[in-house]
Amino acid sequence: MQEKIIILDFGSQTTQLIARRLRELDTFCEILPYNKFPVGDDSVIGVILAGSPYSVYDPEAFKVDLQQFVGKMPVLGICYGAQFISHTLGGRVEPADSREYGRANLTTIDTTCPLFKGFEPNSQVWMSHGDTITALPQGFHPIASTEKVKFAAYQADGQDIYGVQFHPEVAHSLQGTLLLKNFVVDICGGHQDWSPKNFVETTVQELRQQIGQDRVILGLSGGVDSSVAAVLLNRAIGHQLTCIFVDHGMLRKNEFQNVLHDYECLGLNVIGVDASEKFFADLDGVTEPEKKRKIIGRDFVEVFDAEAKKITDAKWLAQGTIYPDRIESLNITGKVIKSHHNVGGLPEEMNLQLCEPLKWLFKDEVRRVGRQLGMPEHLITRHPFPGPGLAVRILGAITREKVRILQEADDIFIQGLRNNNLYDQVWQAGAILLSEVRSVGVMGDERTYENPIALRAVTSSDAMTADWAHLPYEFLARVSNDIINKVRGVNRVCYDISSKPPATIEWE
Ligand code: XMP
Repeated sequence: MQEKIIILDFGSQTTQLIARRLRELDTFCEILPYNKFPVGDDSVIGVILAGSPYSVYDPEAFKVDLQQFVGKMPVLGICYGAQFISHTLGGRVEPADSREYGRANLTTIDTTCPLFKGFEPNSQVWMSHGDTITALPQGFHPIASTEKVKFAAYQADGQDIYGVQFHPEVAHSLQGTLLLKNFVVDICGGHQDWSPKNFVETTVQELRQQIGQDRVILGLSGGVDSSVAAVLLNRAIGHQLTCIFVDHGMLRKNEFQNVLHDYECLGLNVIGVDASEKFFADLDGVTEPEKKRKIIGRDFVEVFDAEAKKITDAKWLAQGTIYPDRIESLNITGKVIKSHHNVGGLPEEMNLQLCEPLKWLFKDEVRRVGRQLGMPEHLITRHPFPGPGLAVRILGAITREKVRILQEADDIFIQGLRNNNLYDQVWQAGAILLSEVRSVGVMGDERTYENPIALRAVTSSDAMTADWAHLPYEFLARVSNDIINKVRGVNRVCYDISSKPPATIEWE
């Protein structure tokens, strides 16, 4: 049984970061809504109550029944979590004189307390709260303070109940990871046994049990998530898995053939479907971005469904859904901030059960699992690419000729990034064809009147925000020259210097 820490989510934006830090400590953890603690689950070795946008006094503040775990396993409250425990067990929480926000130093630290083992004097922490604890519950004592905050951290006498009013999960808390490690390893007795090797072994066993002799279908996109999911399933159930890779005609240059070849080399049972005729026909004359996306989404489902129906005894639909796709952070109104996009649009009437073997992994963990499975590095480090492909990178109506022009320009840019060791330094890159704009140029003695290409390269850690990549001018100059000289139909190259927000990564 995989031991785990439960992180209860009270709506703070940093809750996911706690999970990230624990995973970096090779510790499995799950984020659950504050009211969904899994009572009776023996694999839970400790619980963390995370932060919240609320004050404990707000009538709408999220509350949890501490009796579910107090006295049964170690508990750590962080920020709101610490204030909630203190408030509920008889302490006093009040609005701080001034909002405590930003860097602070722990001026006193009880290093005999296991939570602070190894801490340096004056250790820097990150504060972010409007309320503060002004009196601890009876039987609790402080274990750290800052100049302004007397009860920066506390413990219940002789019990494994801890609270910290700062945020150990953020990088500005310089020894925050040590604090989390102390909690997980020394206090909860965790074994740090969450590794790609372990994950592969246990997941393969679980998949065999879950699926038995059934048949499974999986839609491959060429991206890292669906590819790793396929290879993992292939290891578990071999040719009971059928993969379907649809070519809508708007992939990168030679992408369909190359990726199909990679998949075959990996021993996958994969059907490549060239459905480009259908997509080009249905997109004919369509210029509106949302309409393009809808048509492609619908066509994709139709093509996938038709192929899947040929596998008459399939019982499961496997997907490369990963953890961030599923985490639903609560905002103040209880609305979902980010909803699952992978499932969107798949045919419900297919009547298949869902199998999502990567649903607990963060992106970098998916990559580590891919390496563990022996997948080639170029498949693992590949940039994200939008489902609708080059269709949303051609502004205006789509034709085969425009796709060809864009594929050539994009290929020069991407190969250039690879050849100059820049590919892995950017989150994602690509070219955009401004097919409704024409400008004048001169080539030799000839006047040209052709389309511009925009180049886009961004740095990011999750695609939620992004900055334009500060690529070297000399590199951009060479790519620009190459594109204009080699790609007929393009006489001008621009570089997109917008960040997200307010722009987005894709242009459509
Ligand atoms: P935006 O343009 O919203 O893109 O800043 C954020 C990330 O999502 C990718 N993207 C998509 N991925 N299907 C996908 O699978 C889509 O329809 C889609 N649209 C955008 C985009 O490439 C970037 O990584």
